[in-house]
This record gives sequence, structure tokens and C-alpha cells, in this order.
Amino acid sequence: MSPFAVTRTLPEDATGAALRADVLEGLSGSPRTLPPKWFYDAHGSELFERITTLPEYYPTRAEREILLARSGEIAAASGARTLVELGSGSSEKTRYLIDALTGLRTYVPVDVSESALTRAGQALVAERPGLDVHALIADFTAPLTLPGTPGPRLVAFLGGTIGNLLPAERAAFLASVRGLLAPGDALLLGTDLVKDERVLVRAYDDAAGVTAAFNKNVLTVINRELGADFDPAAFDHVALWDAGQEWIEMRLRSRLAQTVKVPALDLAVDFAAGEELRTEVSAKFRKEGVRAELEAAGLEPARWWTDDAGRFALSLSVVR
Ligand code: SAH
Ligand code: TRP
Repeated sequence: MSPFAVTRTLPEDATGAALRADVLEGLSGSPRTLPPKWFYDAHGSELFERITTLPEYYPTRAEREILLARSGEIAAASGARTLVELGSGSSEKTRYLIDALTGLRTYVPVDVSESALTRAGQALVAERPGLDVHALIADFTAPLTLPGTPGPRLVAFLGGTIGNLLPAERAAFLASVRGLLAPGDALLLGTDLVKDERVLVRAYDDAAGVTAAFNKNVLTVINRELGADFDPAAFDHVALWDAGQEWIEMRLRSRLAQTVKVPALDLAVDFAAGEELRTEVSAKFRKEGVRAELEAAGLEPARWWTDDAGRFALSLSVVR
């Protein structure tokens, strides 16, 4: 096998069909919503990489600090020969794990963003001779078929991306991850933690406006893919903390009364002035909650590490 292979697990049109279904459902409902996986076209993936370097966006740095300190322990506990990473993006922080896993043969990055997978995969095979990279273009919320590479497997889900799923989606997702694992395999999960509201809100509403541009990029994706006529300038980016749900909610607020047409869906959507569209949640966690969700999915939480400032956690769960 060539050291770098990309497998598309979705038929070419699956993305289009799923986008149409999601946009129709989300824009017809009240309140209006749009599902987050559509942020990540090539431009969205680039904007996200800029977010990870912003002074206000601490999760990437906090998780990198933990990986730098703990990759040796993680590697010793897992002994993985195959590393699967869900929502791998740039795979930048993953290099610490790859370097620490001395018996690693195959890295399987899984992402909906083909551009991010191709860039990260090509860079990795150039840097790490001997490592097979088998990228999967796939939706991690749908059933996954992994290549039949040798175990033990370590499945990594970093970045706090699990917080972008709603609680019921998280439960279904963790149960399906459990289904991918055999005895001796492990799950490494990154979760952002509950903290001061001002710190959280700033992380999702930065001074340079990169997060605002990222949030509005979903409108550009719908314009391009479904011929819609959203004017991104007619919406304001809103990030607020929901203390009851313990999540950051990202919204787009219509600056004026307007009608948006979505020809591919034969849809016209009226927005009142000030009406908000929910685009994304980013849930923040507590140790006991993470433990309970892992156990409910049949996983056994074994280790818990945070950065020195206690902002972000990595947990390692095992299957016996
Ligand atoms: N793991 C990286 C990137 C996090 S951003 C980091 O920690 O920095 C979230 C990543 O998940 C993006 O690369 C996005 O394209 C991907 N993603 C989002 N929803 C997805 C889905 N449903 N299926 C597969 N990948 C998804
Ligand atoms: N997984 C990231 C997070 O929840 C994704 C993210 C960061 C994001 N900033 C965003 C998603 C802004 C939407 C809008 O932290």
C-alpha cells in the first residue's frame, strides 16, 4: 500500500443531499438553526486554523500543553499500533502522540474536510517515513468502517469537538465509538472545562473578528452549494454563555428584516430584525460529567489530566 491513501466513505452527492436536508430542517424550524459540520469547507478549515492561534482561544494551547507532558504516559498505557483520529483537522497536536507511540504503524485521520485531510496527510508522510497514513473522508456522527489495520487501536477525539454535539448526539456518538473498540483498545478524549464566563465568551468572540468570519462562513457555504442569497454583512456574530446548559452558543443575528432565498430548496426564509439563527454550541465539561457520559457508553475512564491552569482536560478510557 502507498504510505498515503484517501478513502471517501460518502458517495459524492451524499454531502449535497445531507446539506439540503439539514438546511431545510434547520431553517424551517423555530428557532432557526444550522448544523455545525458545514462550517468546514476549505476556507472554513483555514479560518479554524487561524482561530487556534488567537490569543483569546486557549483550548488549543491548553490541550497541546497536556499532550506535550503526557504523550509518553498515553503511549505506554495504549501501546497502539493504529491511531484513529476523529475530526483530525490539521493533525498538528497529534504529532506528539505519533512521536510517542513507538509501535505505531498506521494513522487514520477522519474528517469531513477533504482539504484539511490532504494537507495534513501529505505533510505527515513526508515527515515520518515508515508511517502509513490512511485518511478517511467521513462524517463521524454516522456509522464508520475503519481499515482493518492491526490493534491495539487508540481512538483520539481532540480539540473539545465533542462539545459541538448536543447531549443526545454525544451519547449516541460515544456508544458508536465504543462499538469500534475491542478489548485492549482505548479512547483519548479532549474536553474543555467550565470556567469564568468572560474567558469563555472571549474565546468565541475574539477582538480580530476571526470567529465572526468563521461563523458567517456557513452562510457562504449555503450560498455556494444551494444558490442561496445570504448577505453575511447583514448578520452579526453572537457568542453567549448558557449557564443552565453549560455551553457557549454561537448565533447569527439578522441586522434587519430580510428575506433570504434558497433556490435549491425552493425556500424563502423571512428574518425579523434581531432574529437569531443558532449555528453551534460548544459545551464545557466537569470531571464527573465526563466520567458519567463515558461510563454510560460502556467505556472505563482510567486517566484524567489537565493543563496547569486547569482549563482543559484529556481523559483516557480503556476497554477490557
Ligand atoms: N482536532 C483538531 C480540529 C478541531 S476542529 C484540533 O483539535 O485542532 C473540528 C474538526 O472536526 C474540523 O477539522 C472539522 O472539519 C471536523 N468535523 C466537524 N464535524 C465533523 C463530522 N461530523 N464528521 C467528521 N469531521 C467533522
Ligand atoms: N471545537 C471547537 C470549539 O468548540 C470549534 C470552534 C471553535 C467553533 N470556535 C468556533 C465552532 C466558533 C463554531 C464557531 O471550541
